[in-house]
Amino acid sequence: MAATDMDQLPLFEVPPGRAPDKSKTKELPLRPLWTENKAKLIERYLYYFVLVTKHGTYIDGFAGPQRGPDNWAARLVLENDPQRLRHFYLFDRDGRQVAALNQLRNDHPGRDVQVFAGDFNDRVDEVLRPSVIRASEAVFCLLDQRTLECHWSTVERIAAYKGGNHKIEIFYFLANLWLPRVLASVRGDTARQWWGRDDWGTLTHMHGSARAELVSRRFREELGYASARAWAIYNHRQGRRVMYYMIHATDHPRAPGLMSEAYQKAVQPKEPIDQLALQLGIPAAQGSGA
Ligand SMILES: C[S@@+](CC[C@H](N)C(=O)[O-])C[C@H]1O[C@@H](n2cnc3c(N)ncnc32)[C@H](O)[C@@H]1O
Repeated sequence: MAATDMDQLPLFEVPPGRAPDKSKTKELPLRPLWTENKAKLIERYLYYFVLVTKHGTYIDGFAGPQRGPDNWAARLVLENDPQRLRHFYLFDRDGRQVAALNQLRNDHPGRDVQVFAGDFNDRVDEVLRPSVIRASEAVFCLLDQRTLECHWSTVERIAAYKGGNHKIEIFYFLANLWLPRVLASVRGDTARQWWGRDDWGTLTHMHGSARAELVSRRFREELGYASARAWAIYNHRQGRRVMYYMIHATDHPRAPGLMSEAYQKAVQPKEPIDQLALQLGIPAAQGSGA
């Protein structure tokens, strides 16, 4: 039987000395999520989940806009309606990105939006304090790093912050397609800070899905999350290439099911809130209104 173009590509396209790209998946999910829609996944999930928690705080460690305003997580989450999330802590170290965040804050004068300029790894402790985040508060933290910007010790501090209460939920972006190339070219201490251990070199030879499962396991076993699952985010034009895995770490029993729902529906029109409340089995009086 003749090989398909897809089968032959790696034989001819991989430049000498570079590890073969093993990031393609054989099967796409029924409704694959494309990179340009990754912010919509977070928006939709929080649209669902705050119906359960009724309140919450949103931390965004790498918050400046990567694409246009329509695919900007911080903006989409802030503008979700009903406005159940009450506090927004947005970080970025790039001056122009900070200006965009300040503009976003100014566009929403009635909301509690605080912008932190600088390295998230250094500044996150300013919000991980009882005077800022109470133990009973539902907290969601987006870690949308490009590749190696979020130190593992930062993830550890976020995961440990709430002690015995529901942990801070984390959406952790694990780069996939370009990760082996970046790891092969960076200084060891950069990779070690990101991975939090010395064995980061083993990651370059792993298949992307195995790497994502390893990171998910670290969230469960080292950081103590009841559930951590990796969701593949694909490149639209190149079809099966996985650009990122979004690792969703939570210990709330309803959260994994709602993420599954959000992944399927991220780009569809939002369900009216009353219909959603019914679907989720939440009494309508609690489900509707802000
Ligand atoms: C992938 S983009 C974030 C995209 C954004 N979440 C969106 O929805 O469009 C990563 C951002 O992280 C910022 N960044 C990189 N390293 C950082 C660090 N150490 N601390 C804070 N921000 C950082 C960059 O300036 C950039 O704005």
